[in-house]
Amino acid sequence: MLRKVIALAALGLAFVGGPASAASEPEEPKSVAWSFAGPFGKFDTAQVQRGYKVYREVCAACHSMDLMYFRNLGQKSGPFFDPEYPNPTENPYVKALAKDIQVNDIDQETGDTIQRAATAADKFPSPFPNEAAARASNGGALPPDLSVIVKAREGGADYIYSILVGYETPPPGLKVAPGQYYNPYMAGDLAAYWTGKGHAPKGGFIAMPPPLADGKVTFEDGKASTVDQQAKDVSAFLAWASDPKQTERKQFGLGAMIYLLIFTALLWFSYKRVWRNVAH
Ligand code: HEC
Repeated sequence: MLRKVIALAALGLAFVGGPASAASEPEEPKSVAWSFAGPFGKFDTAQVQRGYKVYREVCAACHSMDLMYFRNLGQKSGPFFDPEYPNPTENPYVKALAKDIQVNDIDQETGDTIQRAATAADKFPSPFPNEAAARASNGGALPPDLSVIVKAREGGADYIYSILVGYETPPPGLKVAPGQYYNPYMAGDLAAYWTGKGHAPKGGFIAMPPPLADGKVTFEDGKASTVDQQAKDVSAFLAWASDPKQTERKQFGLGAMIYLLIFTALLWFSYKRVWRNVAH
């Protein structure tokens, strides 16, 4: 009895101490039916290919992806994998994608810094030479590296998608500083900027101008290039980049489950057989 009372009291205390800061919670991310969700999910190759295009043509102007090499695009489970070229540095499509991009290098004879076309063996180049330059170009804010952003943010791909499509005209009564944008999915506390009635609106400010617009990217597969589609595709690409072996791992897991099931059945029948004539 006494124990129960103590437990209940503790529970009560936990509730009192709990959701005190609820007023500044951002909006829950929208939930998207990703092809790669769940234990049997797989990346949609065409979607990840389109997502790469969105990253390359839009996001790469501000965001680095320091952990990615062009060859990763052509590795097994990569969006441009071709079984004819198991070695991704030989994949002609990946080579062509890399060739479109300029990277810094050193002239081996003069020692000067030069620019040359990337090869499949190169890293994705950073848009800015250093953090100070990145901040200077973005009103003091640092565009985070996107290599593992889907793992780094609670809500994963749903969150990235929601930020990209979630920009709203700020409600009247919200003071927005120059270079800042209102986004209900961004974490923040707007109380200090709110002169309207009641609670401050959900969400926060983000220093990234809305990066997407209808028709901004042309999709080679003919998919309509809406903001929604671009946001889904680039989020899927970033999910792949954060966990490129996901599909392989899930398939291996499925194989292991099937193996174990067969093994269990075999074991069961041999058990029956061994003990068939023994009273037990
Ligand atoms: C003009 C530069 C610019 C472009 C283009 C741009 N971003 Fe950003 N992005 C920023 C800046 C600056 C920040 C940091 C914002 C802040 O801290 O308030 C940011 C932040 C982010 C964040 C982190 C939000 C968080 O939770 O902190 C994500 C995710 C993101 N950008 C994704 C993208 C994607 C995807 C694209 C391409 C569709 C893109 N960005 C294009 C400048 C840019």
